[in-house]
Amino acid sequence: MRNDILKVLASEEDIDKIVKGLAAKISEDYKDKNLLMLCILKGAVVFMGDLMKNVTIPTQIDFMKVSSYGSGTESSGSVNIILDLHRTDLSNLDILIIEDIIDSGKTLSHLVEYLKLKGARSVKTCTMLDKPSRRVVDFSPDYCGMSIPDEFVIGYGLDYAEDYRALPYIGVLKPEVYTK
Ligand code: IMP
Ligand code: MG
Repeated sequence: MRNDILKVLASEEDIDKIVKGLAAKISEDYKDKNLLMLCILKGAVVFMGDLMKNVTIPTQIDFMKVSSYGSGTESSGSVNIILDLHRTDLSNLDILIIEDIIDSGKTLSHLVEYLKLKGARSVKTCTMLDKPSRRVVDFSPDYCGMSIPDEFVIGYGLDYAEDYRALPYIGVLKPEVYTK
């Protein structure tokens, strides 16, 4: 373990079990639908890769990039679309948004409304992590890997100032890393 990690919240083995459980549920729930797994860059990229390998039904994939965070540990509150979903007709698609973590809930509640307005047949959400105690808008995900307390986490795609994304586990940073 790197010496700026306070503790591990989910090991590679924990994550593997969670992902396989979620993939099985999604495969069952979407077997008669037209699934599009929509990865929210960059944080969800590792989760997306694991999940899509374990889903046993046909799926298309796509990507959007949004920013709601600055470079630190606090949300800026506004949601900007940096890379949009470039498809003209969403009316035959059942979109499942794949996200790394839900904090205030603003990013996902905004994206769900946005994609419904663009005409998607259905829009649901799947997040690896959820911090329910941080919510400022009323939002709950359809699929959730793990609820966690209000701690800043990194690894498995999640960053602090663009670092730590490639760690294969989810950990809590030592507070001195982002307070110094
Ligand atoms: P929300 O719009 O406040 O729900 O923000 C969700 C986004 O904030 C996630 O996609 C992450 O990019 C970022 N985020 C929230 N909490 C954490 C954390 O603990 N570690 C890293 N990124 C986080
Ligand atoms: Mg994110």
